[in-house]
Amino acid sequence: MINPILLRSWLIGALSGAAFCIVGYGNLSANDASALRVNEELPLSAAALDEAKALYQRRCGACHSIETNRIGPKHQGVFGREAGSALDYNYSDALAQSDLIWNEQTLDQWLANPEATIPGQKMGYRLSSAEERKVIIAYLRSQSETSVAP
Ligand code: HEC
Repeated sequence: MINPILLRSWLIGALSGAAFCIVGYGNLSANDASALRVNEELPLSAAALDEAKALYQRRCGACHSIETNRIGPKHQGVFGREAGSALDYNYSDALAQSDLIWNEQTLDQWLANPEATIPGQKMGYRLSSAEERKVIIAYLRSQSETSVAP
């Protein structure tokens, strides 16, 4: 289950998203735009970051870590970089040849359904909870800030 502190930080994000959103989000609905806005509420509070890290470890930790390539590629700097570009990781041809850039939208699609996002990829995992995807994407972003232009 989701920790109430984290939930509260989403709600705050959603409210500020509702207040500030839309310009710059093209044809997304207001709901989508406020969801993106939540993800832009960085840095995460210490409590939210702890919670997000724990969720990342539960859902992704069997195959991934931030710092090292394992069954899946390392996630340091993944937010904002081109798909299939971690050094020294043996990607599927499909992912290696993809020119997708990882951002909120592409990560959300990928985590919900990797095969539909990049057919021929080899990540055998789907995360069906949109809420959990949001938290984990915010966490990945927080681990990538140094390599992303503001
Ligand atoms: C069962 C193992 C497994 C699990 C669990 C898993 N992944 Fe993966 N992941 C992989 C593999 C394998 C690849 C490489 C896919 C390829 O080369 O086609 C990958 C690739 C990725 C990529 C592309 C990275 C890049 O450098 O382009 C992202 C992003 C990603 N995973 C995120 C996640 C997240 C976030 C979770 C948890 C919600 C997760 N994965 C859970 C195995 C897994």
